[in-house]
Amino acid sequence: MSSPRTISFDIFRYDPQDPNDKPKMVTYEITEAPGMTVFIALNLLREQQDPSLQFDFVCRAGICGSCAMVINGKPTLACRTLTANFPDGKIKLMPLPGFELIGDLSVNTGKFMRELAERLQLWLQPDSNDIDIHRLENPMDPAEAAKLYELERCVECGVCVSACATKQMKDTFVGAVGMMKIARFEMDSRDTRTAEDFYHVIGNQDGVFGCMTLLGCQDACPKDLPHMQQIAYLRRKMAQTIVSC
Ligand code: SF4
Ligand code: FES
Repeated sequence: MSSPRTISFDIFRYDPQDPNDKPKMVTYEITEAPGMTVFIALNLLREQQDPSLQFDFVCRAGICGSCAMVINGKPTLACRTLTANFPDGKIKLMPLPGFELIGDLSVNTGKFMRELAERLQLWLQPDSNDIDIHRLENPMDPAEAAKLYELERCVECGVCVSACATKQMKDTFVGAVGMMKIARFEMDSRDTRTAEDFYHVIGNQDGVFGCMTLLGCQDACPKDLPHMQQIAYLRRKMAQTIVSC
């Protein structure tokens, strides 16, 4: 049986809170184990070699979206990436671009998602006259529920934001995650906002008409969400709104 190989990690290190620190790459080596993910390797590095290494995780199962980072140039989830995917044993880790850096590989996706939700009003806006606190539930057509469920699978990891060249060049661009969430409320029959209301939010170059269809969001999304289908759907809706105005 061949002996396990040594994996080399080149990791971005920087503490923006420390005025004396400067961004740098630091190399670590670790012995690979069967089924090892980048996430497992990072935990071992932190436990055994450098307790100051910053990165995020919660679930270890591709559900929380916390462990997103750029792995050998590709934004993705560390807990879903096997070290065996890299035959030369060299792995370079960078923080996701487009987000506030907390330190090393940790970025503030939560702040980004909260600001996006406030800007686009990403919450259900039902008819306030139709609220009955004695009614236990609002029945929904199963086909509509299935469509909404599909778009609710987003784990807010931020990968599509980092993978989008338009978003990286233009900070005000809504991006795929914002447009998919808009589509989710536009399709929800309980939401009282009209296509015209959504037009005022995304019917411009910062919204659906600014997307250059480079497909980075769809290629990189770890939940395989149908971004291009949703953006095309919203474009059609917004174009029909212009025609009917
Ligand atoms: S749409 Fe996909 S890539 Fe974007 S935040 Fe949600 S899960 Fe992550
Ligand atoms: S740790 Fe939750 S998605 Fe990776």
